[in-house]
Amino acid sequence: MSGSTTIIILGGTGDLAQRKLVPALFELVYRGSIPDDLRIVCFARSDYTSDAYRDFMWNKVREFHDLAAHGDAWRTFAQRIHYVRGDLSKPEDWGALKQSLQGLDGGIDAPANWLFYLSIAPWLFEPALRNMSAHGIADETNGWRRVVIEKPFGHDLASAVALDNLVGQVFDESQVYRIDHYLGKHMVQNLLVFRFANAIFEPLWNRNYIDNIQITVAESITVGDRGSYYDESGVVRDMVQNHLLQLLTLVAMEPPNIADSEALRNKKVEALQAIRRHSGVEMARNTVRGRYEGYLMEQGVPPDSITPTFAALRFFVDNWRWRDVPFYLRTGKAMAEKVSEIVIEFQAPPHSMFALDAGETIPSNLLRLSLQPDEGIHLGFQTKSPNTDLASMEPTNLEFHYKSAFGDLSIPEDYERLLQDALLGDASLFIRNDHIEEAWRIVDPLIEAWSDLEVSPLHIYPKGTWGPDAADALLAQDGRRWRRYH
Ligand code: BG6
Repeated sequence: MSGSTTIIILGGTGDLAQRKLVPALFELVYRGSIPDDLRIVCFARSDYTSDAYRDFMWNKVREFHDLAAHGDAWRTFAQRIHYVRGDLSKPEDWGALKQSLQGLDGGIDAPANWLFYLSIAPWLFEPALRNMSAHGIADETNGWRRVVIEKPFGHDLASAVALDNLVGQVFDESQVYRIDHYLGKHMVQNLLVFRFANAIFEPLWNRNYIDNIQITVAESITVGDRGSYYDESGVVRDMVQNHLLQLLTLVAMEPPNIADSEALRNKKVEALQAIRRHSGVEMARNTVRGRYEGYLMEQGVPPDSITPTFAALRFFVDNWRWRDVPFYLRTGKAMAEKVSEIVIEFQAPPHSMFALDAGETIPSNLLRLSLQPDEGIHLGFQTKSPNTDLASMEPTNLEFHYKSAFGDLSIPEDYERLLQDALLGDASLFIRNDHIEEAWRIVDPLIEAWSDLEVSPLHIYPKGTWGPDAADALLAQDGRRWRRYH
């Protein structure tokens, strides 16, 4: 179906629209990556005209992005932006929104495509979806209709299923794009290419050669002014249920036969289904939770909160490929640096023919996939130091850095890629409802085990560190340690 296309951002004055969505759309337009006739309609309750909203957005966007040299480009781009004032829980305001959209399209029957982006608080999902239903928003007679849904997808399995039922009453699954912005990260996509377009790694990618896998998503920021949201959510709902489990599935999944969205997503769900389930004390034994010093002083955090800001977890994927290979996951706020990486630790050589000192062993090879900040791949191996005997080895790295390899070609931001895919109708990098539900089945027992301080203590860690010592102890129990290259 041809016709113009409009992205409607529900929650158009919110943080995500300012920081990510509008800048990503600007970048896509600037680079000529989306249709010339794309329109952006922002829907929110504040009292703006379209011009006042454009000014508001220009000021906000510049807080987060250096656009000093792009004033003219922004002015051209801003003409695509329209503002519609309204309350998305009010049916009559939806009527007005629909009329505005049809007006911009050139009439009720004009061929036109609409992409709704739900960038709204979780409690607004239900009224928004009900009003979409009442106004026949999903009807594709005049063009395609799609909806992008931001997390949280519920706060546990039951609420996720309820939300999904509601979404299913309004939209066909093919119209729904559930977003996890980690799937928009370039290195996350590259993981598929790295694994499945190179013949040298996949034969080693299993329990016969890999000792353990470590996934770290560390953030140096604190919860800042998001205290009241964060305290309800905590590290498991905010990061583990979505981003970390996404990374785990991409490392653990079997190769799909084709890079088709259903085939890809089937394999990811299979990997999640294979994760070993624990509960109660057993869950606590395999996990560590922490909270940074000073968290209780953050705005919006109740003084008796036991919400964790750090998690270290030991998971197993019970299938032929991964049986008994630990997957260690850790993530937290207020940590030493912002870094997201996956480290594959291969098994150490089974025997040394070199004369090593007593107690010395040959270190294992580490393959590090760095997602951010410096996207790249590092493969560590031993080399012989010059002018020394054979047993004098030095660990060395084969390194690939995206930025230096591709020079000026800038790597698109997470949301750029995902918005572009949603406009093209490619759902490969979006999440299916069965994935979300399976992820809740994994983390619900964790949240439950962590609700009991007797079963699972809350370790306090100083800001600017790698989390509590107990996270190191979790790996030390297995004779291992967290691996970093620097
Ligand atoms: C979001 C979380 O989903 O991801 C935030 O809600 C977190 O708490 C953010 O800061 C991290 O994303 P990134 O892309 O900066 O690693």
